[in-house]
Amino acid sequence: MANIREEIEKLKREKNAVILGHYYQRGEVQDMADFVGDSLALAQWAARTEADIIVMCGVHFMGETAKVLCPSKKVLVPDLAAGCSLADSCPAGRFEAFVKAHPGYTVVSYVNTSAAVKALTDVVVTSTNARQIVESFPQDEKIIFGPDRNLGSYINAVTGREMLLWDGACHVHEQFSVEKIAELKRQHPGALVLAHPECKAALLKLADVVGSTAALLKYAVRHPEETYIVATEAGILHEMRKQCPQTTFIPAPPADNASACNECSYMRLNTLEKLRDCLRDETPEVTVDPAIAARAVRPIERMLEISAKLGL
Ligand code: 13P
Ligand code: SF4
Repeated sequence: MANIREEIEKLKREKNAVILGHYYQRGEVQDMADFVGDSLALAQWAARTEADIIVMCGVHFMGETAKVLCPSKKVLVPDLAAGCSLADSCPAGRFEAFVKAHPGYTVVSYVNTSAAVKALTDVVVTSTNARQIVESFPQDEKIIFGPDRNLGSYINAVTGREMLLWDGACHVHEQFSVEKIAELKRQHPGALVLAHPECKAALLKLADVVGSTAALLKYAVRHPEETYIVATEAGILHEMRKQCPQTTFIPAPPADNASACNECSYMRLNTLEKLRDCLRDETPEVTVDPAIAARAVRPIERMLEISAKLGL
């Protein structure tokens, strides 16, 4: 392992590459990243890096977003099969038909979408900025929100809007069991439930804090004296435990005890070996059709501009 780490460091320096890692990556992959963050922070880093190569240790749509923002850079994802069930729940052709069927609607898309879906979008959002970006539109603005129905209904609930929702979901966040979390709360009286807004409404109702991975981490860092039940992908526990070594974090259990379904199988496809190989061979590379990229860049940049104004 020590050797692989040294090889990665050496290749990174030789090739002027930057390694960006999402909080859901394997712990050892997060530890190799120059920057670890949530979806918004990864896009912000990609937009401002001066490296020649961006290695996106995350899933395919994150690599696509980096490529759209930096078309002249080489963008690598250690395993191109690292997809996303939420992005897959919104095929571009069907989404286009949905948008066309609702003329006059502003299209707000979660970053967990293909570049082709972003090309049909007015503004992209992440879980960190979705609420504020939606609130930046007049209360009576007609909005289509896709593809996550849970995040969309959460924003509808907290903003009093009636956005039209695409019926998509993340297979990891949807499966958390309300009953099991309620049982954990009984076993650990006083423990706070941290939940990602991709979870179902019934779970969000019993959560003490709802937010993006970065927001949940920030809350724990500010209140290290609490005990937490964490209802999001279990990879976040790595950074939480690093930043708050004295705090007790309990991963929300999977609905089915036999499976590790609080882990995203796509995120975990990236390993240290694949990271080393992709830096060495400069493949697999993420490519985006230039015509799609030309349309997808506008809503992503719009998100980055609004986020900068909001100080996010
Ligand atoms: P954030 O990184 O915005 O918290 O989103 C979580 C996620 O599901 C990424 O795939
Ligand atoms: Fe997609 Fe869910 Fe995995 Fe995030 S955790 S990459 S939303 S499947």
